[in-house]
Amino acid sequence: MPPRPIIIDCDPGVDDAIALLLAFAAAAEFDLLGITTVAGNVPLALTQANARRICHLAQRTDVPVYAGCPRPLLRSLVTAEEVHGSTGIEGTNLPQPTMPLQSQHAVAFLIERLTTASTPITLATLGPLTNLAVALIQCPAIVQGIDQVVMMGGSLGAGNITPAAEFNVYVDPHAAKVVVDAGLPLTMIGLDVTHQVVTTPDRLAALKALDTPVGKAAAGMLRYYGQLDLERHHLAASPLHDPCVIAYLLRPDLFTGRPMHLAIETEGTLCLGRTVANGHPTPTAPANATVIETANADGIYALLTERLGKL
Ligand code: BDR
Ligand code: CA
Repeated sequence: MPPRPIIIDCDPGVDDAIALLLAFAAAAEFDLLGITTVAGNVPLALTQANARRICHLAQRTDVPVYAGCPRPLLRSLVTAEEVHGSTGIEGTNLPQPTMPLQSQHAVAFLIERLTTASTPITLATLGPLTNLAVALIQCPAIVQGIDQVVMMGGSLGAGNITPAAEFNVYVDPHAAKVVVDAGLPLTMIGLDVTHQVVTTPDRLAALKALDTPVGKAAAGMLRYYGQLDLERHHLAASPLHDPCVIAYLLRPDLFTGRPMHLAIETEGTLCLGRTVANGHPTPTAPANATVIETANADGIYALLTERLGKL
């Protein structure tokens, strides 16, 4: 099988950074066309620089990095420094990047690649969906160039940024609605799944034991990232969100899910950004997404540790 062409849209972000490392470690499976960045966990100036810092860490400065939208479609930007630290990838001390940021805007890059693709492209979205929504608004024909969109976002149960909403969808619910309503082959990996894939002390120790620059940086970031979940949210271990998207593309057998009708709440106050999923689609509310429900955490962490050990 030739490698699958893929673009990763992200807001690094500690778990985005780990997801990028996992994608870099899958060069046989992925033809990584580019990394597009968006404002989310931290402002755009940091997310685009962090993506390039991670490229340096993995010696993948051949992968072009693009900066996209600096704020959501309608709302003011909400960030998550209390989770990811003021730099966005706290817990490691990576140098500032020397590889250039691409001069083309991320949205222009998405439109160019998706309208000229000879093979449909997979989009892995790990942050607020602003870039993809703007691309869809500017050029609806990009749908034909998309093989599938696999997004980390949403929740069937409780939220994390509010009781009702997951962070990525809450930050830009209007963008999420544009994407969900676009008629794309869409897979949602939400909090219900990522909270099954937690960073236990043993799993963290295995990453650290790789004893490589990548293993040490990954373990350092994940240790920092887990603090809030452990101390303030009283979770037993911290969920690993964004790498689940890459793991799903590499090993779909580690996940189960089913077709559902997905809708986004864009008007409420208490429930703004809620993903409302109907597991019993009807003719008036047909299935428009595959919603993942279970994940094999041991398998995903084994994959992550084994692959990062090769970088
Ligand atoms: C999502 O929010 C961000 O903080 C993480 O990077 C992840 O994409 C989890 O809700
Ligand atoms: Ca993210």
